[in-house]
Amino acid sequence: MAIRIDGKQISTDIKEELKAEVAALKAAGKSCCLAVIQVGNDPASSVYVNNKKKACAYIGIESLAYELGEETTEAELLELIDKLNRDGKVHGILCQLPLPPHIDEDKIIQAISPKKDVDGFHPQSVGALTIGQPGFVSCTPAGIIQLLRRSKIETEGKHCVVVGRSNIVGKPMALLMLRENATVTICHSRTKNLKEICRSADILIVAIGKPRYIGADYVKEGAVVIDVGIHRDENNKLCGDVKFDEVEPLASYITPVPGGVGPMTIAMLMHNCVEAMKDSCL
Ligand code: GUN
Repeated sequence: MAIRIDGKQISTDIKEELKAEVAALKAAGKSCCLAVIQVGNDPASSVYVNNKKKACAYIGIESLAYELGEETTEAELLELIDKLNRDGKVHGILCQLPLPPHIDEDKIIQAISPKKDVDGFHPQSVGALTIGQPGFVSCTPAGIIQLLRRSKIETEGKHCVVVGRSNIVGKPMALLMLRENATVTICHSRTKNLKEICRSADILIVAIGKPRYIGADYVKEGAVVIDVGIHRDENNKLCGDVKFDEVEPLASYITPVPGGVGPMTIAMLMHNCVEAMKDSCL
């Protein structure tokens, strides 16, 4: 039976460490500030944004909330980002996605200064990760690295299969596992022999976005299984991309949904904010 990786506990540990660090910085007269922008009132985005603001308050990071109407133009949003880029009191800028269809998301992501890009979405941040240079890393994959490290899971020389190729999770995840000296395979919905490749994984990271897609027949005995998915099933119950009940008896470690990868994203966002602030003091 697999050991369950407790993302809730690990994210709490990280937030406690950050809280102490922020308190020490505050005592030295340095404060940390995150600007959070939401355009429109998509209910899911509002929940995420509120959770980010709450985490800031808990850790002692100031948050500036910009709740803009659905009709906000791209030019207006770019103007706000330019103002925040130049504001020395603001260390991180986060623009919640998705944006309304009349706004070009790529343009917005590229407008945020890489020094304040706490989401790690800017092409310069992604490029830095690719060539092993310092820069902000996308929060969910960075959180998965913390789950593996803090659970003392060996990655060096292991075959890691990443299922999913999104810019936010799959691609940066593969690059991070390469940095951890794993041998990495990226698969996706069009991969022909997905089951066989997954079955060869020592570490299987699933971000395919399909509820309960990966069953026991995709998993090698003793594999580490990380589930990035989060869905509501027909009974309104939260579930991941993995058939948890089937895979748990087979795996060596597994992340539950909820309480696995999910809580790590905000913890790593807070980590990136503190790093942005420290870098701005250099
Ligand atoms: N929408 C869903 N997840 C995220 C995230 O991590 N960052 C931003 N900016 N928007 C999101």
